[in-house]
Amino acid sequence: MDSISDQDLIAAAIEGGKHAYIPYSNYRVGAALLTASGEVYTGCNIENAGYSPTICAERTALVKAVSEGHLSFTAVAVVTRDGGSPCGVCRQMMFEFSPTMKVLLADLDGNLRLTTTLADLLPHGFGRANLD
Ligand code: THU
Repeated sequence: MDSISDQDLIAAAIEGGKHAYIPYSNYRVGAALLTASGEVYTGCNIENAGYSPTICAERTALVKAVSEGHLSFTAVAVVTRDGGSPCGVCRQMMFEFSPTMKVLLADLDGNLRLTTTLADLLPHGFGRANLD
């Protein structure tokens, strides 16, 4: 498989966000996770009238990937109208699998706003090592 560039991953996140179900916030989020084996899994946010059952785009992508046997990731791209950053729950859930992965934050037009890492977004995170 050809290697996936940052811009490819952002484009995948934009595509993933097209199916966002956002009747309450109208805040579209798309995410694309790059697996260690070079595959891309996308996700969107899916809201719910009960509010708390809402799932973020990052976690949608993650559960799709993990449920198909992918446990290691090298990067995630997240796209929103303002280049917003992953929420705390998503940071924690991604930290479980790949605490050092690259994080690309971009807008819905594909403009990269920030390149960072999950380690920077969740310093001193709680993870598997704590339970050894
Ligand atoms: N949202 C995400 O999809 N990812 C985040 O990391 C932050 C928030 C969604 C949840 C909800 O559908 C909308 O954005 C507004 O909070």
